[in-house]
Amino acid sequence: MITALRGMKDIIDDGNLYKYIVQTCESVASNYGYKFIETPKLEATNLFRRSVGESSDIVGKEMYQFSDKGGNDVCLRPEGTAGVVRAFIEAKFDRAGGVRRYFYHGSMFRYERPQKGRLREFHQFGIECFGEKSVYEDASVILIGAEILSRLGIKTKLKINSLGDSECMPKYKAKLVEFLQTTDGLCEDCKRRISTNPIRVLDCKNEHCQLLLKNAPLITNNLNEACEHDFSTLQEILKQNGLEFEVDAKLVRGLDYYSKTAFEFISDEIGSQSAVLGGGRYDKLVEYLGGRPTFGVGFALGIERLMEIISQRKSEEKRDGIYLCVLDEKYLDSAYLLSAKIRKNHLVEINYEAKNLAKHLKTADSQNRKIFLCIGEDEFKNGEIWYKNLENKDEKKVKIENLEGVLSE
Ligand code: HAM
Repeated sequence: MITALRGMKDIIDDGNLYKYIVQTCESVASNYGYKFIETPKLEATNLFRRSVGESSDIVGKEMYQFSDKGGNDVCLRPEGTAGVVRAFIEAKFDRAGGVRRYFYHGSMFRYERPQKGRLREFHQFGIECFGEKSVYEDASVILIGAEILSRLGIKTKLKINSLGDSECMPKYKAKLVEFLQTTDGLCEDCKRRISTNPIRVLDCKNEHCQLLLKNAPLITNNLNEACEHDFSTLQEILKQNGLEFEVDAKLVRGLDYYSKTAFEFISDEIGSQSAVLGGGRYDKLVEYLGGRPTFGVGFALGIERLMEIISQRKSEEKRDGIYLCVLDEKYLDSAYLLSAKIRKNHLVEINYEAKNLAKHLKTADSQNRKIFLCIGEDEFKNGEIWYKNLENKDEKKVKIENLEGVLSE
């Protein structure tokens, strides 16, 4: 049998949940002025080298990279931001100026070791805002994330940090490197990172390394005045908007393009793969990729990680929709005509199989339907339908002409 590749998953039985998550994301982002953008899944490898960064794990170890038939070095996108920035520059919007906001969703590919919450092909919903310098936009981006997660009923912790800018970050890095070079006992990964990407040492998962890093210098104590000002303003705005957060000076993110704001929403419901949403500001990225200097800020969330959390509590899911059925095939035509009528206003699932009431009720229950409608001999003769609300257990016979009124109660 030919099976799906390791780390790749069909969305086969929970397609509605996938759609529901995307619709929720789109609805929140649209209210903030974001518009849909779609970019190719295959891009030139250099795009990710230059943006996500040579020293990141994503580029260093995890890319689905190959030569196409024309000998071009190409790569399945490991994330969405780089492609959106490329499209923005290619459309010359960096020259046009003004503020533009985009949202997207779709497959991303990272050749990681698969485990719960970690796939090789996964789906993200992301937003990117270009041309806005104000830290209020950073706050809005975070508020969009918080609103999406709250609408989906997902409890998370918000962690924020500032990664400084091109003035204070290099000075901080130099201090950190000095500290790391005089620290004995770091793991091999950390030792390697001292020269390639020293700030990534800060989020090493090794407990011993974390102990050694206890007295490491922190970026939050080394910000210049402008970064310090924006970071404290951001915290003020979040507080005013009732959003709880924790400042985590060791939050560095796995992509190299961030400056100033960086943030993650963390859930404790999916084991060690705990980040459900991450993002930040990337004011240098448009320039790095050959465009005119343009401010940028955004985030992406992992759709499968949210699906995982939501399906874990499926039993608590609210009942929804109508289950319509018949006790004998003779009544199927009437039921079918009726379904077309009530479907104008309601979700209706019709079961074509004639079986007894108990079996139908069992199926309706397993499908988490709220309303059960059934046509049997008596109902058929009297122009009625048997109605049961599976939530509050109310049951009665209803005249067909009164059905819409009862359903809309
Ligand atoms: P990221 O933190 O690499 O950021 O990914 C965002 C989210 O994608 C993660 O929080 C996680 O939920 C999900 N995710 C990442 N890797 C996997 C995986 N292997 N399997 C399942 N889910 C995964 C970015 O990608 C940035 N482009 C976000 C951004 C947009 N920053 C600014 N704008």
